[in-house]
Amino acid sequence: MAVKETHAWWKEAVIYQIYPRSFADSNGDGIGDLQGITEHLPYLKKLGIDVIWLSPVYKSPNDDNGYDISDYRDIMDDFGTMEDFDRLLSRAHSLDIKIVMDLVVNHTSDEHAWFVESRSSKDNPYRDYYIWKEPKDGKEPNNWESCFSGSAWELDERTGMYYLHCFSKKQPDLNWENEKVRDEVFDMMTWWCEKGIDGFRMDVISMISKDPRFPDGPDKDGIFGSLEPYVCNGPHVHEYLQEMNQRVLSKYDLLTVGEAAGVTIEEAKKYANNEGTELNMVFQFEHVSTMHPSQCVVGKWTYQKPSMEDIRVILNKWQIELEGKAWNSLYWDNHDQPRAVSRFGNDSDEYRVLSAKMLATCLHMMKGTPYIYQGEEIGMTNTHFESIDDCRDIEAINAYHQYVEEHKSVPEDIMLRCFDEISRDNARTPMQWTSGSNGGFTTGTPWIGVNPNYRKINAEAALSDPDSVFYYYQKLIRLRHENPVIVYGVFHPLMEDSPSVYAYERILDDQVLTVACNWTARKQVCPLFPKEQLREELISNYSTHEEGFLLPYEALVTIRKQ
Ligand code: GLC
Ligand code: CA
Repeated sequence: MAVKETHAWWKEAVIYQIYPRSFADSNGDGIGDLQGITEHLPYLKKLGIDVIWLSPVYKSPNDDNGYDISDYRDIMDDFGTMEDFDRLLSRAHSLDIKIVMDLVVNHTSDEHAWFVESRSSKDNPYRDYYIWKEPKDGKEPNNWESCFSGSAWELDERTGMYYLHCFSKKQPDLNWENEKVRDEVFDMMTWWCEKGIDGFRMDVISMISKDPRFPDGPDKDGIFGSLEPYVCNGPHVHEYLQEMNQRVLSKYDLLTVGEAAGVTIEEAKKYANNEGTELNMVFQFEHVSTMHPSQCVVGKWTYQKPSMEDIRVILNKWQIELEGKAWNSLYWDNHDQPRAVSRFGNDSDEYRVLSAKMLATCLHMMKGTPYIYQGEEIGMTNTHFESIDDCRDIEAINAYHQYVEEHKSVPEDIMLRCFDEISRDNARTPMQWTSGSNGGFTTGTPWIGVNPNYRKINAEAALSDPDSVFYYYQKLIRLRHENPVIVYGVFHPLMEDSPSVYAYERILDDQVLTVACNWTARKQVCPLFPKEQLREELISNYSTHEEGFLLPYEALVTIRKQ
């Protein structure tokens, strides 16, 4: 018998991620803002979500769209003022919607006052807030490649030393070994908690503790080496999070989720342990990065599709192995991933709606806290990049410069094909509200092109169609709120040999939830729902079910008593 799970509001909640730059522009400058979010709270209330995760809204020069913070206690000019934030928070709370902030503390912007001081001289009191190294043989201290291409080290002429930046050179890494850095971060977190926010999504939190030896990493492309083994899940990461937990998190009733690149099951059991000494849950990356290097053109760049079987093996493993030990988070996409329906489903006119609903069912019936990324609830799709001029994301732009222009190792059309498939900008095209100009996102010129399919795919159209993806998500959320088996039931995989059907059951006391999803455009055999068994249908994306089969992209969930 499974041990009875401790109940918690964050296990029962459904989270909606907002990427503020692309959500809703209230003043016509082409950039989404806080006021735009406040105006659309009733839409989110209608959807039924419990929590908003707000991607960074702090002061930032926007080298990486707010993930490069220059002041943690102020709001980005593009997004409004602290008054706008306070209004958003109190309006959301009045609707019973919580707000979780993005906490980006692996690095700051190079324009943050700490870094401006730090780089000014070797004996500045802020010098040790960042990671500085002397040149090695007149060059970079090691071969690490930044996650955004190029060396992870930047030479600062003023003192002749290099600083580490795992992301862009405008995102220097903080030195968490320095107690003062931890004090500053914890003070800042407390300041936000005192304001009444409801939690933190912690950006690349698995990377805050570096291997103090700073050794060369395994070769990636003959030029650079990988930093992952020496940066992800480093020697003191759990110690730091436990300290954070004791000094800040445990004092408030928060939702905490750590973005944990490179996290394994063993590590996740520590980060998200049931004793609650670190975080509530982590985002693992395995199911969104199933591509073998041979399927990639270079680095992460690919235009091939992942296989359901690979994804199933991974997700089932996470479901089974965290059972009773740690809590899962569930997601198909976010602001760093392509659109779920394009990547894992089928975004053709014929199957977009069906497959978006199928994917939602497959994920939302699993054990863990589900995350919906803005636009996913109306089945928004990937876009098309005609040239590099259409791209806004520093990751894609840097990769293009490195591989297409400098090394000339990837032809331009192949790189653009990869962008169409997996560039982060796919998720960052503006939210499609209406069929009007710019999809109702802005009355001005949007900072990134609107996906041309907004005339057909938009929130207004979804709200007026009872069969829309929107109302299907609304129902999934409602079902989770009403059925403890969806939150707390134990997961058991089914049909594990099927190349086309992803199926499982969830069991709580005498209730059995059966979930089956056809990931293909062909009818498939499925013996899980024999007529003679008395069962109630909870949700399906078809109005009728053919016994013994699943129709193209059919998803079916039933509940019965055992
Ligand atoms: C995380 C964010 C991503 C950002 C990076 C650096 O992965 O989700 O958007 O670019 O960290 O902060
Ligand atoms: Ca604006």
